[in-house]
Amino acid sequence: MDKLLNQVLLGDIREIYNQIPDQFVQSIITSPPYFGHRKYSDVDAYQNEIGREQTLDEYINNLVSCFKFIKPKLKDSGLLWLNLGDTYRNKELLGIPWRVAFALQDTGWILRSDIIWKKTNAMPSSVKNRPTTDHEYIFLFSKTANYYYDADSIREPHVTFTEKSKMKGGRNHFGKKNSTPENGKNAGNQNLHDGRWDQAFHPKGRNKRTVWEISLGKFRDVHFAVYPEKLVETCLLASTKANDFVLDPFTGSGTTGVVAKKHDRNFIGIELVKKYQVMAQKRIDETTFQETIFLTPV
Ligand SMILES: C[S@@+](CC[C@H](N)C(=O)[O-])C[C@H]1O[C@@H](n2cnc3c(N)ncnc32)[C@H](O)[C@@H]1O
Repeated sequence: MDKLLNQVLLGDIREIYNQIPDQFVQSIITSPPYFGHRKYSDVDAYQNEIGREQTLDEYINNLVSCFKFIKPKLKDSGLLWLNLGDTYRNKELLGIPWRVAFALQDTGWILRSDIIWKKTNAMPSSVKNRPTTDHEYIFLFSKTANYYYDADSIREPHVTFTEKSKMKGGRNHFGKKNSTPENGKNAGNQNLHDGRWDQAFHPKGRNKRTVWEISLGKFRDVHFAVYPEKLVETCLLASTKANDFVLDPFTGSGTTGVVAKKHDRNFIGIELVKKYQVMAQKRIDETTFQETIFLTPV
């Protein structure tokens, strides 16, 4: 498998998918081109480029077929994280992310979650007759009901009961300063150890919610549509262990590969356009494992 390790394969997903063995990757984290947004290739590969279709139906059919070819490569215990944004045509919002999600469901993918990526630094917009869009979707799909998911690795800070809580009695749940709820006023209470413990007192924070506030990345000048490392990191930590393989079939500038390497995961990429394949490969080759990166301090 050395020839695949941390490599970005050049070509159309629908033509080169079989270079990857079946049941090989633990997680797919990807952001395909959006419908009608931009052109990635010049002349070389534009007929194969997703997003340049004339009609929405063609776009959805093409995306669904890409994921049909890729699906056998994912382990049965694996997850697919799919980032998609929407498009306006003739002043009308097309609702593309959900249309794609339903189409994937129709081909057997199990839709486990819709996540809103709220961009904290979205581009200013000139619209005056509707709210400015500052979010995209991330859909979480599984192949089977039994998949690997590490909820602890992506917990987020509690908001209700914390040491600083102003809520009546909130602080008392912790006993002394820097203590744990086990030492507080409800120590030993059975209730604390059921669902409530997780909800309110789990030492690593509460279970991750479905709205993720993440700013746009810094690497956007070289590739048009780079997604943030933090977004990838959240998906990656929840769905893989060290040394698992992660696939991004629409690699672009290689953000998924960079984050995978930083976290000691193995990466395989696919990219249609030569200049981006070269860019991504260079970025990934220059990345090293970083022992000290953490997601969100809780
Ligand atoms: C939105 S970009 C991905 C950006 C990436 N997430 C990043 O952070 O840089 C989508 C990429 O998919 C590539 N692409 C389009 N059609 C493809 C196809 N049929 N097979 C493989 N890659 C394709 C485009 O060239 C483009 O680089």
